[in-house]
Amino acid sequence: MNNTLLGKDLVSVDNLTQSDLKLIFAKTIEMQELAQTKGGDRRLAGKIMAALFFEPSTRTFSSFITAMQRLGGGIIPLNGMTNTSIEKGESFEHTVRVFSVYADCLIIRHPLKGLPLQACQYSKVPVVNAGDGTGEHPTQAIFDTFTIFQRFPTQKELVISLVGDLKNGRTVHSLAKLLAKTGILIHFNFISPKILEMPEDIVRSVSLYNQHISVTDNLAKKIAESDVIYMTRVQKERFKNLIEYNLIKNYYQLSKKMLAKSKKDVLIMHPLPIAAGEISADLDNDPRSIYLTDQLQNGLYVRMALLDLILRK
Ligand code: CP
Repeated sequence: MNNTLLGKDLVSVDNLTQSDLKLIFAKTIEMQELAQTKGGDRRLAGKIMAALFFEPSTRTFSSFITAMQRLGGGIIPLNGMTNTSIEKGESFEHTVRVFSVYADCLIIRHPLKGLPLQACQYSKVPVVNAGDGTGEHPTQAIFDTFTIFQRFPTQKELVISLVGDLKNGRTVHSLAKLLAKTGILIHFNFISPKILEMPEDIVRSVSLYNQHISVTDNLAKKIAESDVIYMTRVQKERFKNLIEYNLIKNYYQLSKKMLAKSKKDVLIMHPLPIAAGEISADLDNDPRSIYLTDQLQNGLYVRMALLDLILRK
């Protein structure tokens, strides 16, 4: 397969095609086997990845670092920029230009939407968006999609319920857009309180692919029909008014009891962290829950695949 990702930026799912996804998924399966049998190899020896995280992260940061190290590459690991010259007033542009001299790719997380895209103008090397404010989280969407397809390999139609803070949650923005163009028929349930509804531009993007969309605030009503229930936290850091956040943070609390009428093989997913009990702890070890197992594990394999594809001829 022609490597269409070689040397490319990845800042949004918008430019990904079905054939890109096929390529990434094939490479992900190769990486899964490599990691499980040998732990990794040295194919990215001599390459350096700079992880520039201007906003906190547990999973995205650590899995990119792990992915690079499992493939023999080097890392510049900055989880938080407080010990860099940004503290002395250095600009975002100069910071990006500097690291693009040292590294072969930049993994950038930023609290402001659009900054990874801006970084592409300044960087001499590929930029990967590791989450930009309320914008996108493309690598998360790729492994979420991989995980869903791995569990439902032959299904031509799926009911996917995206639940919670659909306004501010970047993972659901990327996931809805990416799933919409995979070629299978998706019945989306966009489930949120009124003030946290999915942004219009994302709804428009999904509609372009003639996918079905139902908008509601009623999670209980949609459980029985769902193949996937994708929970998200209410994004405290995006609220100007904390009183408003506190009033809405517990709007959804999915529990085992609520799943009494769910499909047997429903997938309970969450990008993590769970912050305000939006999934009850009694579901953590339930076989239907995959947010601490397959979903998380696939994040590593997909990031190994992406680094290999972007960095190696
Ligand atoms: N899912 C996700 O982006 O988690 P982190 O914020 O911990 O990276």
